[in-house]
Amino acid sequence: MHAFQRPGRREFLGAVSGAALLGAVPTLARAAFIPDLELELRAAPDQVGILRGPATQVWRYHARVLQGDAGAVSTLPGSYLGPIIRVRRGMRVRIHFINQLPQPSVVHWHGMLVPEAMDGHPRFAVPPGGQIVYEFEITNRAGTYWFHPHPHGLTGTQVYGGLAGLLIVSDEEDRALDLPGGEHDLALVIQDRSFGPDNQLHYGSGGGMGGMMTRMAGFLGDHILVNGRPNAMLDVERRPYRVRLLNGSNSRIYKLAWNDGTPMTVIGTDGGLLAEPVQRPYVTLAPAERVELWVDFSARAAGDDLSLQSLAFAAQGGSMMGGMGGMGGMGGMGGMGGMGRMGGGAGALDQGASFSVLGLRMGSGAAVAGKVPARLAHIAPLQPEQAINLNNPRTFHVTAGGMAWGLNGRVFEMERVADDEVVRLGSTEVWQFVNEAGMGMMGGLPHPLHIHGVQFRVMDRRVHPQASSAWRSLSAGLVDEGWKDTVLLMPGERVRLLLRFADHPGLFLYHCHNLEHEDMGMMRNFLIRA
Ligand code: C2O
Ligand code: CU
Repeated sequence: MHAFQRPGRREFLGAVSGAALLGAVPTLARAAFIPDLELELRAAPDQVGILRGPATQVWRYHARVLQGDAGAVSTLPGSYLGPIIRVRRGMRVRIHFINQLPQPSVVHWHGMLVPEAMDGHPRFAVPPGGQIVYEFEITNRAGTYWFHPHPHGLTGTQVYGGLAGLLIVSDEEDRALDLPGGEHDLALVIQDRSFGPDNQLHYGSGGGMGGMMTRMAGFLGDHILVNGRPNAMLDVERRPYRVRLLNGSNSRIYKLAWNDGTPMTVIGTDGGLLAEPVQRPYVTLAPAERVELWVDFSARAAGDDLSLQSLAFAAQGGSMMGGMGGMGGMGGMGGMGGMGRMGGGAGALDQGASFSVLGLRMGSGAAVAGKVPARLAHIAPLQPEQAINLNNPRTFHVTAGGMAWGLNGRVFEMERVADDEVVRLGSTEVWQFVNEAGMGMMGGLPHPLHIHGVQFRVMDRRVHPQASSAWRSLSAGLVDEGWKDTVLLMPGERVRLLLRFADHPGLFLYHCHNLEHEDMGMMRNFLIRA
């Protein structure tokens, strides 16, 4: 039953409970785990019709409720994506993952605070035909989390193939607000894909120079898909909606805005609701980031169309090389984006290009106006003075060594942590990420950085003067007010984060969520020592 027999370094696993660690865990702890919801989650090849013509071979998750609320799992009809799993804070879930892919795989619950053995670390990947049992209690705030594969070197391939689902958590605070629910609570996953002539997914990260350049830049597709559908169109009622957006793309960043210039009302980020709604002219959404919007369509005319756009921005920060300066200009032409295009073959959409994401059509029913709550959630004020290293932040530089991105000059090692990658359980620290790599040469690239095992707060950002015009083409859409697990680091930028390692001890990951960067090793372990 348990194909999960690679406990890795035992000293890291001693304090972990869960049935997946048979033998490493006291029997009592296992016996005490009575799940409120038990699922089977299979990853398997499948095919779906995406474009006109032949069906597309995909990989997808299939979930089945074995025990508990049958309504906890919903599918996205006609999509390779999903499922959507809805849970409540305090619930205990057990998920039997079955790998029916032709490659090793493992599931990471992105943003969730789970014991290390449940976190989908690549050292726990199971071979084709293997299984893992995940057990954890939902301790996160209400919010929009997601899950996806995390086998080393294959995450980009597997997510691109279709493997990603949403894990939506609710709690009492969230429910008491009476935000739009049911069919008025929309979850939208935005991705880009490229297709070959036979409608098959084209990843374009193969061998040779083209593949190398795609990996350095990250994959960029020329079709924008929402919930797995191209040219997505949504019929909506003239009333308020709660809209949850996930950027499920491998590398693409979106600068999301309504085509008529209506500001965006943001109510939540990666780690759940904000203290109060904030407005933005547009929302910047990097890979793996989530944002929740409150959108009121009630003032619009029946039958009207509205469109969610991604606006143009400059993806590259550099202007140090005179002639290449234009590459960092608006529109993001050339440079590494162009390299990605070369490698990707047919791709015609560079990083920073503008395009339409989703069309919305207003229904003809009576309009029902609503009001966004002025207060949303309790969020403790940022207390940087609690950090043990406020004036000496733990610093990670994005580095470019040869043809690979790294962190502090290092690339991923499956079971190793360096001395400066060990933190203390219960401590609060300032981490600082600095992205100055490659600025002189090609203008640098954006890197969305994700940290496992925590939800953190963004303290501040600072940008190098040479990169500030590119940075300003996106910065008004950053939402740093709430809890985050992924933060976009633009070229020339330094961001300071406040993290509290309060949840689970063990070996966790921090990495770039540009999945091609992650797969090439822009990922490291860090150890939360009890
Ligand atoms: Cu969403 Cu380590 O990843
Ligand atoms: Cu990166």
